[in-house]
Amino acid sequence: MPTKKGCILIVDDDIASCRTLQLHLRTEGYDVTIAHSVDQGLAAAHRQCPELVILDIRMPGKSGLEGLPEFKQTFPHIHVIMITAFHDMDSTIEAMQHGAEDYIHKPIDIDELDNTTARIFSADGQTIVETRHEDKASQLNTMVARSHAMKEIFKTIGLVANSPVTVLITGESGTGKELVAHAIHRTSNNARGPFVAVNCAALVETLLESDMFGHEKGAFTGAVSKQPGKFALAENGAIFLDEIGELSPVMQAKLLRVLQEKEFTPIGAKMPQHSNARVIAATNVDLAAQVRKGLFREDLYYRLCVVTIHLPPLRERREDIADLVHTLLARINRQMNRKVTQLSSDVISCLEKYDWPGNVRELANALEKAVALCPGNVITQNLIGNICDTTTPTSDVEQIPLTEWSLEDIKKAHVLRVLKTTHWHKGHTCEILGVSRPRLRRMIKHFGLIPPEGIQTDLEDDNDQVENSSNKNSGLGLVKK
Ligand SMILES: Nc1ncnc2c1ncn2[C@@H]1O[C@H](COP(=O)(O)OP(=O)(O)OP(=O)(O)O)[C@@H](O)[C@H]1O
Ligand SMILES: [Mg+2]
Repeated sequence: MPTKKGCILIVDDDIASCRTLQLHLRTEGYDVTIAHSVDQGLAAAHRQCPELVILDIRMPGKSGLEGLPEFKQTFPHIHVIMITAFHDMDSTIEAMQHGAEDYIHKPIDIDELDNTTARIFSADGQTIVETRHEDKASQLNTMVARSHAMKEIFKTIGLVANSPVTVLITGESGTGKELVAHAIHRTSNNARGPFVAVNCAALVETLLESDMFGHEKGAFTGAVSKQPGKFALAENGAIFLDEIGELSPVMQAKLLRVLQEKEFTPIGAKMPQHSNARVIAATNVDLAAQVRKGLFREDLYYRLCVVTIHLPPLRERREDIADLVHTLLARINRQMNRKVTQLSSDVISCLEKYDWPGNVRELANALEKAVALCPGNVITQNLIGNICDTTTPTSDVEQIPLTEWSLEDIKKAHVLRVLKTTHWHKGHTCEILGVSRPRLRRMIKHFGLIPPEGIQTDLEDDNDQVENSSNKNSGLGLVKK
């Protein structure tokens, strides 16, 4: 009889799923035992000494998450893969932090399972992840996701939360960078410490320096009293440096010093102060490109991106949309004290097809608007009409190679795209573009953008309303260079 590759224990209350897995893993050459509860599994592990336990999360009695630390404490060298039919962030992070090797979702992708088991059984020395008991993290700010990319992100959060490494979070606006930063802090050993956010783009340089590092009394005009900065306030916690790509060269140099020496000097102070705050940074610009262009210090970049978490845009993970809709709706209902819990099926399919240039934030805004305007408890197509009608101009845009576009072309295309998305709603367009109403009117005039026939635009009440509405062509009208 050939030697077995190793011994695997499957713990799952679903008997059929256990048998199917057992059959598959046996044909792969493993010795496989099954158990239907955590306690049965622990007893079987004492008898069989498996190298790997495949542990289901939801089981009657003790859950897999409760069983995981027991397995790891009793058999410190055992490998554990968690399986679940649910897709929430907190259990993924918790499982990884309690020493699970991996986290696989049902229905189980056999290739994924085979890769993980092969990796586990071929590994020589294993790293044992620190185990830790903690109250269940607060449900607030919980991220939902079904996509493979996001689940990998949850795993990374679980792995890095407890180490002091600097994490750089990248991704388009509205993809959830700040939520990820919160999740890292919330699941770290310093979770009880403060989470302090600094927007590096919001302030002028001197104010930003004082905001970050603090100042002594009289350090500059207006410094009437000594003020601690955000680095001091983040002592024993985390500091979140948002929009880090916007830092000026001077501030880049000062930040580099904090990261290298772990100390900073408040403005006007003689002595530097020690900092133990964990640094988490975020940006929606391509920092590596900024480095190549000489706009961002290379040494700082490498200090920041010890671990990089990239959040893909929503249009690249459409499978997350339905889950997000349910979570966001629940949140909105709570906030607005409403019970809008249903969506017609055509609405879901519209939401899944749309490109979401503003990502999850835009989705949340669209749902908020729909709930506000919804007379009953069902969201119907007319409530998200602008999204259903939108034939996003992405395809037009993609027809012309980007290198042939001028900045003006891109601006024009983007303004038109957002106008189409909002059905030429002035308020929403300004909100998405982050511009004032007069500026939007000027841009519409400047680019000669015209609403298509039949569209009621709230721009028409303005004095300098869109002119020349006889021209019904609202196409991009791009100029090729
Ligand atoms: N996976 C998710 N699950 C639930 N809510 C999410 C998720 N991702 C983002 N959100 C929600 O979308 C909104 C935008 O998220 P967040 O502020 O973290 O984005 P961001 O990437 O920091 O955006 P910006 O670059 O514009 O600052 C928030 O309301 C957040 O709660
Ligand atoms: Mg943000």
